[in-house]
Amino acid sequence: MQQRNLGQQGLTVSAIGYGAMGTAIGYGPTDDAGSISAIRRAHELGVTHFDTAEMYGWGVGEKLLGTALAPIRDQVTIATKFGFTPSFAPNSRPEHIRTVVDASLQNLRVDSIDLLYQHVHDPAVPVEEVVGVMKQYVEAGKVKYLGLSNTNAESIRKAHAVHPISVLQSEYSIFARESESLLPVIEELGIGMVAYSPLARGFLSGAVQPRSAYAADDFRQRIGWWEPENYDENVEIVGQLTQFASRKGASLSQLAIAWLLAQRDYIVPIPGSRNAGRVAENIAAVDITLTVADLAAIAAIAPAGGVGSRA
Ligand SMILES: NC(=O)c1ccc[n+]([C@@H]2O[C@H](COP(=O)([O-])OP(=O)(O)OC[C@H]3O[C@@H](n4cnc5c(N)ncnc54)[C@H](OP(=O)(O)O)[C@@H]3O)[C@@H](O)[C@H]2O)c1
Repeated sequence: MQQRNLGQQGLTVSAIGYGAMGTAIGYGPTDDAGSISAIRRAHELGVTHFDTAEMYGWGVGEKLLGTALAPIRDQVTIATKFGFTPSFAPNSRPEHIRTVVDASLQNLRVDSIDLLYQHVHDPAVPVEEVVGVMKQYVEAGKVKYLGLSNTNAESIRKAHAVHPISVLQSEYSIFARESESLLPVIEELGIGMVAYSPLARGFLSGAVQPRSAYAADDFRQRIGWWEPENYDENVEIVGQLTQFASRKGASLSQLAIAWLLAQRDYIVPIPGSRNAGRVAENIAAVDITLTVADLAAIAAIAPAGGVGSRA
């Protein structure tokens, strides 16, 4: 597996990582044994970077990832995140950060967290104060690298001035292009990017269902791409991308991941799957090279991403 540098502080990870959100929340019923097999298969195939968060089941996802990675702890880097209340409002108050990070260390069964993110910008707490607390964990040897997620250029600059930020984690895919506006600032500051939901939450996976097949309480029903007025147009885009992928000998999910790898050499996509076979399919994207002409063809099919908003 190719390696990529995230930031300039020494964090090097596999070009494709693994996102563990779905092992705990978001995509319907989970099967822990299947998820653990999927995680271990990812590692066997060269993935060394694994992403979770307190919020993925309030510790449940972290515990599962910690169990799966315990035998290979020294061969991988683990990222986790703090910053939400149980009702999904931002909370980056210092005492809350400390409570959550101390619990994450226990849940993951590690002495140190390789990469700690603030999960979401909290307008109630200056980011300098947030990073000040994160920095104390680095100084104590309990965290190695710092990251931010779901934030803006101004906060990135302020945070980086307190302690070097290694990674911005942002939603980025052929469908979700908003974070391209943050590339100039992270490039200037030497910060890497972890691209989350690289398969557009499954829309770019080949597994997209007729709209009526999604349960009324499936969170994707609330995403703009799934809204009735946008859905058919997005399915049409996906159909064209699938045809293009097959001409390259790739699946749609592989095309989506290869597209991200081709954008910048400091971008690491973290597709999520609870199935070992689909994990293997996604990881094989590392061997797909997209030419300038390929990228232009994809841009012609989806010039501005998916139709509708990503949230
Ligand atoms: N920072 C943040 O705020 C934030 C937000 C969202 C996500 N994330 C991170 O990013 C990671 C990935 O994002 P995500 O899980 O939301 O979305 P994603 O990776 O874009 O898509 C995941 C969905 O696609 C399906 N899938 C994956 N590979 C497939 C394949 N080859 N064929 C068919 N279906 C496939 C998965 O189902 P199966 O599991 O059934 O295969 C799941 O339903 C998360 O796990 C999490 O670590 C971070």
